[in-house]
Parts: sequence; structure tokens; C-alpha cells
Amino acid sequence: MFSKKTVRDIDLKGKRVLVRVDFNVPIKDGKVTDDTRIRAALPTIEYLLGQNAAVILFSHLGRPKGGPDPKYSMKPVADYLAGLVKAPVKFAEEAAGPKAKAAADALKPGEILVLENTRFYPGEEKNDPALAEQFAQLADVYVMDAFGSAHRAHASTEGVTRYLPAVAGFLMEKEIQYLGQAIANPARPFVAILGGAKISDKIGVIKNLLAKADAILIGGGMANTFFKAQGYPMGDSLVENEVLELARELLGSGGTKIRLPVDLVIATGTEEGAEVKVIPVGPVPDGWKALDIGPETVANFSRVIKDAKTVVWNGPMGLFETPRFAEGTFGIAKALAESGATTIVGGGDSAAAIQQSGLADKITHISTGGGASLEMLEGITLPGVAALQDK
Ligand code: 3PG
Repeated sequence: MFSKKTVRDIDLKGKRVLVRVDFNVPIKDGKVTDDTRIRAALPTIEYLLGQNAAVILFSHLGRPKGGPDPKYSMKPVADYLAGLVKAPVKFAEEAAGPKAKAAADALKPGEILVLENTRFYPGEEKNDPALAEQFAQLADVYVMDAFGSAHRAHASTEGVTRYLPAVAGFLMEKEIQYLGQAIANPARPFVAILGGAKISDKIGVIKNLLAKADAILIGGGMANTFFKAQGYPMGDSLVENEVLELARELLGSGGTKIRLPVDLVIATGTEEGAEVKVIPVGPVPDGWKALDIGPETVANFSRVIKDAKTVVWNGPMGLFETPRFAEGTFGIAKALAESGATTIVGGGDSAAAIQQSGLADKITHISTGGGASLEMLEGITLPGVAALQDK
């Protein structure tokens, strides 16, 4: 199924190996606050150490403006990693240039070097060949394990593959196997659940899934726009008025595949004292906004999920960060956890919701990618994958 060479297919013994990881993790007051992406890279890192390789890790972090910015330094990530692995972890204040080269040359087999943020170089996002070549000069082999960044054709994810033998790591392989399989050859019924605030972010995904899935369950802010397109006034709810026509088209072409909520949790606000109630789908009064799917919708969607063989979920069903509006999202998380289907959760927010629900270990695969997993669901080939050596 996965057609690219992986770390298993190439001799890495004693080699200097440059690994692109996605260590774009949240950092607060100089400390990593969610280590999911770091832990997800450990199988590849440990395998390479087991091969007696010298392991050089590099990643972007945040969106600095093409120059060094201490706020986005990889140093806290290197410190965090040092607590997770037995090998010595060194840090280089550059990702390219003389300091990076000297640190890479001095690295011994069985050691790890973390380079500074790749986005401190303007050439990174421009996929500048000169920068890609500088990255390549640090090592003998390149391993791409940054699934979450594989939709970016940048110097560290794509350009560098022109200068070194380039293969996939284990995380990359696993992500592509689950998400690729769901789209290309799913066990049926194949049910997709889409939520989140906006339709406009997911037009390509909806279109692709309309062709592939047996049912698409829609919740979250996105549902409001569909309801408005059907003619319901939505009060103060978040609605994308600019895509109403498109929403109508999608509903028209979706036939019976698209299932919308039958009830909604509406509220006068998100603050403590705000009024909250459940209404059947219909006009939302002025001064009120829809903030979650209702209990009957959770029950309906859960029945569909129960009968599914493959379920893909992207985007929360409501404002789950606020407990009063989290029941819809957590109800769907529970349905996935209890279903016998292959369950795949993609995207930053839905992955966070699953973690918060405490049901993460009941899910077949939780993707580490946000934008990358959406592009997979859209059926797009990721440039950071396409560039790797074929098996
Ligand atoms: C992500 O968090 O989705 C990836 O790390 C990509 O980050 P980017 O959207 O800033 O390119």
C-alpha cells in the first residue's frame, strides 16, 4: 500500500541521518505543553539509534517571519526530547551554515542533534535550492517523518530530497497507510464526520468525500451555513454568508449522503451566566447562537457510526473548549470509541478533543497532521511524500 522506501529499505548503519520531524508543538513560557508530535517521532528516532546512526533532527516551529526569533526557538523542544530518550541530545543554534555543519560533523553515532528552527531562513518556505543543499550537506541520508508538514513543498520537506537519498520514517508510513487507505479503499460503510467553524476550509474535502464516503455527518459551525442555505435564520450564529450558494450546491449534489443535525444547543453567549437551551433545527432567534449539536443528533450520528466499518473524523461538533458546549463533540468521540470500525481522527482540534475526552486509546489512528490530513482527505498527493524514493 505504501509505495515509498522507508528506513527499513536502506542501509543506515553508522550513517549520519538527517530527519525532518514535525516538532511544531505548542510552547508556553519556554515549556512544551503538548508532546504528542514529539512522542510520535520516537519510533523512528529509536530505530535510527539502534542502527548506530548519528541522528540530526530538524523542524519548523510556528510562523516566524523568515528570520531568527527567540520566541520560536527549538531549544525547549531539544530540552524536552532529552527527557524522553536515553541518548545524549545536543542543540545547534543554526539549521544551516557553519555552526550547523560543525555540530553535525562532531556528532557521534548513537547521539542526537536538534537543529534550530528551519523557518529562521527565508529560503525555507521558498524552497530555495541553495538552502536545501546546505541542509543536505549535514548528512548522508534524509528521512522524512514530518507527516504534519508534508503538504508544504519547503526546502526541508521537499527541496532537500534532490540532494540526498530520501526515505520515509515510521510515522509517515503509518499516517499515509491509515489516511490513504481510508480514501482509496475503505471498508464499507465508510462514514465521514466533518465539523469545525468553516465550510470554506473544507470545500475540497467535502467534494472528495461526497464521491468516496457512504455518509457525511456534519456538525460544528459549518452546519450553521448549511442551515442558512436552506433558508433558516440563524440568529447570531457564525455563518459564512459568502458560501451560501456553494452550500446549496453541495447539499443538492450530496443527495442523502449529507446528514445535518436535527437539534442544536443554542445560547445567548459563551460566558458563565449566559442562557443555554436545546432546540429542534429551525430558526435561531436573534441574540442566540448555535454552539453545539443537540442530544438527538448525537444519538442519530452514533447509530450511523455504530454500523460503519471505516470512520474518519475531522473537526469538532461545537465549542468543545467550553464544557457546556462540549457534549456533542464528546458524544461523537464516545461513539467512535465504542464502534468496531477502523476509526481515524485527523486535524489539530479533533485530535485535541479526543485527548480531552480520555478516549484516545480507543481510536485506531489519531493523525498528527492538521492541514496535511485535510489534504489527504481531499485526495491531494503531498509534495513531501511524492519526493521520496519509490520502493
Ligand atoms: C501544522 O501544525 O499543521 C504543521 O506543522 C504545519 O504548520 P504550518 O501550517 O505553519 O505550515
